Amino acid sequence: MAETGTDILKAAQLLCEGKLVAIPTETVYGLAANALDADACLQIYKAKNRPAFDPLIVHVGDVASVPKYVMDFPEEARRLCERFWPGPLTVVLPKKPIIPDLVTSGNSSVAIRVPSHPLTQKLLDLLDFPLAAPSANPFSYVSPTTAQHVQEQLGDRIDYILDGGPCQVGIESTIIRFDNGKVEVLRLGGTALEEIENITGKLEKQLQSGSNPAAPGQLDQHYSPHTRFVLTDFNTLNTIPENCGFLRFQNPVPEMDPAHQWILASDGNTDTAARNLFTMMREMDARKFAVIFAELVPEEGLGPAVNDRLRRAAAQGLSPE
Ligand code: TXA
Ligand code: MG
Repeated sequence: MAETGTDILKAAQLLCEGKLVAIPTETVYGLAANALDADACLQIYKAKNRPAFDPLIVHVGDVASVPKYVMDFPEEARRLCERFWPGPLTVVLPKKPIIPDLVTSGNSSVAIRVPSHPLTQKLLDLLDFPLAAPSANPFSYVSPTTAQHVQEQLGDRIDYILDGGPCQVGIESTIIRFDNGKVEVLRLGGTALEEIENITGKLEKQLQSGSNPAAPGQLDQHYSPHTRFVLTDFNTLNTIPENCGFLRFQNPVPEMDPAHQWILASDGNTDTAARNLFTMMREMDARKFAVIFAELVPEEGLGPAVNDRLRRAAAQGLSPE
């Protein structure tokens, strides 16, 4: 078991010693180490069972810190960061040599973001180095949105869990890459793409998958519960199968057992669906149903990002490449 608490001085001390600390962010909990210390970052890969080809996101305290770690900070990237930071946006930019190759899995670019959680902001303030942190879950499982989720899965492998309560956004950051004048979306996430495109104009998508080597790390099968996870249209589900769980967007189905139904957003808001998604997937997984049936949510706001996670969860059975 890892010690859990809100002691940022202790967290800072451990990080200075090259240890691992789980940190709260507004998106999901991260598993953090000193981003400038390759040995410390290697421990992240080990603790998560994460393949070496899957690079880490570097967390910094403010926009002004970015030029310390990147060769070039184009005006368009800066504008996005100033608009959405602190918040669920990650930008990928050409890295300076100070960022170890291990952090970027050998890529010449580094992913950077400023998280908005107040505890982690204070922690970054105390440190004179940035924090490399992937989501604090074993590789390919659902990301943690509470300190308890981290404890359950990685508690025996980390030194401290900084408890910042449940994550307010609930899904990972949106990732935008700036590469030689090209701007691309690598991952849909907690900042709605429409909002980003209001500033940049229409963007090309290079959504990450195992078959897309240009964008490492995100396999088709990701965010997977252990239970078989199937996407369905509940209107066409004629017979109600036994011992199954149902993940619905807004309304329960009256003829189904309420104890087998989870409602992502009774207010019909896709932000609420994002906030509840991973917690509900975990709760349902713990019930050991034969199958979890889920429906897609409306394609507005964070809807496309939620649907991306649902589709990847349903892609289990496809072998990761
Ligand atoms: O919201 C988030 O982004 C959370 C919190 C903890 O900040 N972090 C997170 O990290 O989701 P992770 O490791 O689960 O996902 C990071 C993904 C990688 O899988 C990879 O697809 C992409 O970010 N990435 C990281 N560095 C990259 C790079 N240099 N080039 C391209 N993609 C990169
Ligand atoms: Mg992850």
